[in-house]
Amino acid sequence: RTTAPTSIVVFGGTGDLAKRKLFPAFFNLFIDEWMPVRFQIIALGRKQYSQEGFRAYVLENLKEFSRNNKFTEEQWLSFSEKITFLNFDITGENSFQNLNDKLTAFDVECNSRVNRLFYLSVAPNFIDSVSTSLKKAGMADEVEKDRIIIEKPFGYDKASAVALNELLNQNFKEEQIYRIDHYLGKETVQNILAFRFANTVFEPLWSNRHIESVQITVAEQVGVEDRGGYYDHSGALRDMIQNHLLQILCMVAMDAPVEFESSLIRDKKAEILKAVRRIKPEDINHYTVRAQYTDGEIKGNPKQGYKQEPGVDPNSSTETFVAMKFYIDNPRWQGVPFYMRTGKSMAQKKSCVIVNFKEVPNKTFANGTDSLRPNQLTINIQPEMDIRLSFMTKKPGLDMTLNPVEMVFDYFECAPDSPEAYETLLIDALDGDSTLFMRSDQVEEAWDIIATIQEEWKNGTYSPIYTYAAGSWGPEAANELLSRQGHRWLSAT
Ligand code: BG6
Repeated sequence: RTTAPTSIVVFGGTGDLAKRKLFPAFFNLFIDEWMPVRFQIIALGRKQYSQEGFRAYVLENLKEFSRNNKFTEEQWLSFSEKITFLNFDITGENSFQNLNDKLTAFDVECNSRVNRLFYLSVAPNFIDSVSTSLKKAGMADEVEKDRIIIEKPFGYDKASAVALNELLNQNFKEEQIYRIDHYLGKETVQNILAFRFANTVFEPLWSNRHIESVQITVAEQVGVEDRGGYYDHSGALRDMIQNHLLQILCMVAMDAPVEFESSLIRDKKAEILKAVRRIKPEDINHYTVRAQYTDGEIKGNPKQGYKQEPGVDPNSSTETFVAMKFYIDNPRWQGVPFYMRTGKSMAQKKSCVIVNFKEVPNKTFANGTDSLRPNQLTINIQPEMDIRLSFMTKKPGLDMTLNPVEMVFDYFECAPDSPEAYETLLIDALDGDSTLFMRSDQVEEAWDIIATIQEEWKNGTYSPIYTYAAGSWGPEAANELLSRQGHRWLSAT
């Protein structure tokens, strides 16, 4: 349990993230007794709510979005009394004064200057004014106690991310800044480090000597839903590759940190991002495929094409699917292709990492066994949460016929009700543990990796935008990206 009394302030308290993720996460942490004994949550928003009205709205959302919706009335009542709604104008000085008063009042009640956690779930153009106003009012001046969580998107390209980091660094110390990437809070993503570095059997094989290729897939079945306005200015490269997929890549490819300690882990991740080979503009078409979904069918229901989605420009050339190939120029990974793909309105929701090992070098079973398959390690991130190692065995019987089988570790069987990513990340932020958050250099490197792609796609000199039917696995070009090297997507295609 986190012990230090804390004031939590949610900028964007009536927004989508607060509704679906933040309040359910705080509530589950509260029920499971992870929250400090003394805390308050101040939700800031532009809508008009009475205190009762806002609490009723939170309750309604908990029933819909919390992983645990079998809570008692008593649990809800004791949680709800910690919530205050404050009508808030981000550009108004009075609003910050009111907030300051509420924070000070809680300090007085607790007889000490308590910790403060400011969650900035606001559009990127407001981060400047919010952080400057916090600084001006002296509300987040205690480096040891005050923390700022910043939601993505963290800039829209490298220059804007650098500018944002500079701005934040003027107002706060780096150790106060928690840049969130919720993929890092997922159990199955965190487990990659345990799997790799707490075992002796896998790490010796974890290099170009034994690994043929690595695949990272984050496929979503949902389209852009009601986020067309945001998404059309973002696209899959910025929305998913720059952050979630590159973070997964770091977990798979990084070297072992000397200790499981925040700065050491983040150093190792930054090293990998630095070693990712930058793609030259004239090679973009060789290494990347972008596409947009058109009319199709998902789970038996018709799905309209991207250009018809609300908030999307009917002439939009924003990509909703990306497939690409990366190389990492370091001794461990030289020559191993890392394939990545992500998309909306795809056939299935599936996030996974597949490590494809090399073929056996000897010819012992070369004759008559076309079933001989290289070993494959699958780390299913969601919705399945498991690790599967496939290997060859002899099929029971009189002759020597081979058969691939799987050894499986299933998370669901061990912990069907495991915490959501936001629960893990919020408790870490409350505890002042930034291991699972991104440091400024990591964010900037990640933008640097995709910089030429962004630029080239904007100009469109070398790279066409393909289409794929909603409900499919993406365009044929994504298969060709692998097949010309004798590979294929190993999860569904
Ligand atoms: C968000 C993206 O960061 O991640 C969304 O902005 C995407 O477009 C979402 O749908 C995916 O998260 P999850 O946890 O549902 O896989």
